[in-house]
Amino acid sequence: MPNTYKIPAIPSSEITPRETYLSRRDFMKAAGVLGATALLAACGVAPEAAGEPAVDVESGLTDELGDPANTYEDITNYNNYYEFTIDKQGVAGLAENFKSTPWAVEVGGLVRTPKTFGLEDLLNFPHEERIYRLRCVEAWSMVIPWQGFELRHLLEAVEPMASAKYVRFETVYRPEEMPGLNAPYYPWPYSEGLRLDEALHPLTILATGLYGQAMPNQNGAPIRLVVPWKYGFKSIKSIVKIELTEEEPATLWSAIAPNEYGFYANVNPQVDHPRWSQATERRIGEFSRRETLMFNGYAEQVAGLYDGMDLAKYY
Ligand code: MTE
Repeated sequence: MPNTYKIPAIPSSEITPRETYLSRRDFMKAAGVLGATALLAACGVAPEAAGEPAVDVESGLTDELGDPANTYEDITNYNNYYEFTIDKQGVAGLAENFKSTPWAVEVGGLVRTPKTFGLEDLLNFPHEERIYRLRCVEAWSMVIPWQGFELRHLLEAVEPMASAKYVRFETVYRPEEMPGLNAPYYPWPYSEGLRLDEALHPLTILATGLYGQAMPNQNGAPIRLVVPWKYGFKSIKSIVKIELTEEEPATLWSAIAPNEYGFYANVNPQVDHPRWSQATERRIGEFSRRETLMFNGYAEQVAGLYDGMDLAKYY
């Protein structure tokens, strides 16, 4: 069942201009040539409203580099979500009955005003559309049109103390709904972390939807982190807890294999994974490999966060 919570309408000033949003084919749909259902899909109206299961699969959306967004099909059927399964194509099916509502995120630790946010509170933060590249550490990538809000707004609401230096995130732990949690090898619950200045960076968002729809379970419903300049494993799904800390928090992947999955995990074509090259990647839906960009193409915005740091040491 698709999630039915309504994500906020995005103000038009925050949305990709319609001319670039719609491909020629979608313009024809929008003009009514291909019928009313196609029109609704192209406008991002929830398909349930039209009694239709599908979302526009050829949106004409691009990221700021001109790369087309992956289809809704690809984005929702090729997933990493180990709490369900390690089989990327099996996540969607196994996550179908996951309950994403009601939901609450507890925010605490080194903050002046700890607070538990219900999903309704989270949906009240000013939402925007962000079309970001997602580069998995396994060397595949996608372009995804997220809806969400800047994490800094939530952090500012709880007033971090001066001693807070890091932010730790935790995924929900529900073995009865998540069969992958039976795998004893992983130190569940899934957890991740950022340095506070990374968490406060305007590119860092909490996403509640994609393609104008409530977040699908397999993509981390109802709320997940998206940090576009870091390997995808940092973008933790289905968050229930956020904690500000003084020390760098342990994370699931760095606990298992610290030499393979560092705390920083910035996309870096010059620093290979011990078992494979990170110089190139396979964009889902394309045939030939493309070069991986430093900081996944966001260097201009984020390189300054790492001035003076040896990125081969802090990988
Ligand atoms: N979050 C949780 N809780 N569990 C996971 O297994 N996988 C990560 C990240 N967040 C993962 C997670 C990895 S490795 C990637 S590449 C992205 O989610 C994939 O996000 P997507 O399935 O929405 O494309």
